[in-house]
Amino acid sequence: MIVTIDGVAASGKSSVSSGVARALGIPYVSSGLLYRAATLLGLEARLDLGEAAPLLSHLQMLPLRLEPLPEGNRIWQGERDLTPQLHQSAVDAGVSAVAAHPELRAWVDEQLRRLPPPFVAEGRDMGTNVFPQAGAKFYLTASPRIRAERRAAERPEDVDAIEAALVERDARDRVQSAPAPDARVIDTGPLSLEEVIAEILKGVKG
Ligand code: C5P
Repeated sequence: MIVTIDGVAASGKSSVSSGVARALGIPYVSSGLLYRAATLLGLEARLDLGEAAPLLSHLQMLPLRLEPLPEGNRIWQGERDLTPQLHQSAVDAGVSAVAAHPELRAWVDEQLRRLPPPFVAEGRDMGTNVFPQAGAKFYLTASPRIRAERRAAERPEDVDAIEAALVERDARDRVQSAPAPDARVIDTGPLSLEEVIAEILKGVKG
């Protein structure tokens, strides 16, 4: 069984996916972390994120391992845990440029498709491109203001700056982020985390 949970930036996908996966007793897989890890390594190597080929060959020299733990995914590069550095603002700002390269998307998709089901897959295009065969698909939305307010608890910037950055990232991500025709769209704005998880579990079981 594969359950896909896609949605816009800061729509609550990770917390929701983790809760759904725990309730189902299966792992969850965060595809965004692979894009973030590619971005972090590119920035550290001072590569131009607008160019796919040098970044891809750099990544091929530094094999990554995604550890899909139920409480939160971790990404390792050898013995180094990259996870704590993947949510800094520099990575937020650069990741859409990396995710826009078809070669980089193929690199991420290949790693995801190697994972043994069952799992919950979270991202932008899990239900459309990567796992079109998934048994249950969901797409989370919420207004930019609500998402910025949620994220302000985790970032040093103020709500207005976070909202502006989210709107910009939404615009850049639009190409790869659309609900699958068979996905159930859930507006998480008026719902608590527990309510979103319950809605999804109802959909998975029903
Ligand atoms: O989900 P998260 O916000 O961590 O994803 C970071 C970025 O990775 C997104 O803004 C998007 O550019 C990219 N991404 C993607 N496709 C996915 C998951 C993430 O393009 N399936």
